[in-house]
Amino acid sequence: MKLKKSWWLLVIVSLGVIVPFAAPYLTFDPDNSRIRMTSTTIQFPLLVAHIIFACVALISGFFQFIDRIRMKNPKVHRYLGRIYVISVFISGVLALATIYYIENFSKATSFLVLSLIWLFTCWKGYRTAVRKDFASIANG
Ligand code: HEM
Repeated sequence: MKLKKSWWLLVIVSLGVIVPFAAPYLTFDPDNSRIRMTSTTIQFPLLVAHIIFACVALISGFFQFIDRIRMKNPKVHRYLGRIYVISVFISGVLALATIYYIENFSKATSFLVLSLIWLFTCWKGYRTAVRKDFASIANG
């Protein structure tokens, strides 16, 4: 089946935003961080790990919408689904740890709410897939 234009648009826009944002952190040099480091210990490694796992989640997530993989290669779909869930879980928990270093209260609160929503929706999606309730997944 042909991939929908909306899927391509989502991939291009997401990568167009995330690649330039994530690139400085993939040099593993804290001096390239756009975010001011308030700690010299584990803040930067936590942030880099959050970004790496978030990118894995984003990329594996894209593949889950490809009908051809879902229908003709359900094993690959399931395998990618596990990678997605595990990377969201790790990245989400690392985001929670990163929030500890944010000095601005409103920013920290917003990220906290976002992290909890991310982890919760991923957990709900995982449970739905495990129960094989595919109608709920398809209807959102
Ligand atoms: C809803 C889920 C997400 C939450 C809650 C979250 C949380 C955070 C937090 C707390 C920070 C540190 C902000 C700071 O210290 O000022 C951060 C930074 C960052 N995150 Fe996430 N994140 C999420 C999803 C993602 C995804 C999916 C990606 C990439 C695919 C990503 C890539 C980044 C990048 C590149 C930075 C550094 C931003 C900059 O340099 O300004 N995040 N995120």
